[in-house]
Amino acid sequence: MRAFFGGDLRTIEWIPEQNQVRMIDQRMLPHRLDYVYCQTAEEMAEAVRTMAIRGAPALGVAGAYGMALAALQRKGVVLLELRDQLRQTAQLLISARPTAVNLEWGIKRMLRIVNDLQIPVASLASRLLNEAHCMAEEDVQTNLKLAEFGASLIENGDTIIHHCNTGSLAVVEWGTALGAIRYAHEHGKRIHLLVDETRPRLQGARLTAWECEQYGIPYEIITDNAAGYFLRSGQVQKVFFGADRVAANGDVVNKVGTYMLSLAAHANGVPVYSVFPISTLDLNVANGDMVPIEERCAEEVLGLEFKGEPVAPSNAKARNPAFDVTPHELLTALVTEVGVIRPPFERNLASCVYNSKLDG
Ligand code: MRU
Repeated sequence: MRAFFGGDLRTIEWIPEQNQVRMIDQRMLPHRLDYVYCQTAEEMAEAVRTMAIRGAPALGVAGAYGMALAALQRKGVVLLELRDQLRQTAQLLISARPTAVNLEWGIKRMLRIVNDLQIPVASLASRLLNEAHCMAEEDVQTNLKLAEFGASLIENGDTIIHHCNTGSLAVVEWGTALGAIRYAHEHGKRIHLLVDETRPRLQGARLTAWECEQYGIPYEIITDNAAGYFLRSGQVQKVFFGADRVAANGDVVNKVGTYMLSLAAHANGVPVYSVFPISTLDLNVANGDMVPIEERCAEEVLGLEFKGEPVAPSNAKARNPAFDVTPHELLTALVTEVGVIRPPFERNLASCVYNSKLDG
């Protein structure tokens, strides 16, 4: 199991013999390593909505493959009709999960090809599929770069609190915040990870803990509520998490609980790092309060059992925002594939995007 992700197995990949996308079914981990297969954009939208695949960068690639699948499925249409249909498919896929901007980013990148190219329908479909493959490859390379930058912030002996899942399972391969931690671990730094369980879907306890087992990273799971205790008692040197959307001013929208964790870290002088690819940066939103926050079903909160019984009275109601906003003042630095960005974030994010465009 140790070298599981070092081999040729990825969170999401194209199976050419069957013209379909194969994804690790993240609803089944850690107990079962199962896959979901998608042959249509509708199946992909459902896999995204039900979180068979999840994590911002992985969603970007899933959206791109969803568009390619839609193009491959359309037979006997002319280019104009195909374009119209693909614009509708884009809406379907984007609406499957509204907060992580990578989903929209991946789909819009495909739409640019749809809108710009004057080529036969069959060529457009294979052009879209190639673009999705490129995005998957780019994702891996980007993660390796940002992991190296992130690892440079980690010192030998650090105990780190990590929120949600930001490892291989949240991307195509490798990871963002957990990728940085893994990079530091594999380069000989002694690290101890406190894994926030991350209620209600337990991406920390189920997925991050499972990944730590694969890589041999020493870890313990803590309840989300315990983070304040560990931070205040001086047992933690750093807090690391990813991002689902970063606003122009550096506010980070991430898995619910990130804000409380950052508040507690900031109040206790513990550095807070958000690690993400530039594709997660949304310069169209001035601050985090402008980002739509996905509210998921009450069942995710109420469905948990304790001693074989539901935790709440049978007619209980619940609220379930899946993300929250961490204001940029609480963050020590933002880590991207083009480097570590420090305050003032608004100015430094803008110039880093400008420079990355010049380079690439
Ligand atoms: O609801 P999820 O599981 O898709 O949320 C994922 C997160 O919040 C991750 O922390 C985020 O996407 C960063 S991913 C590298």
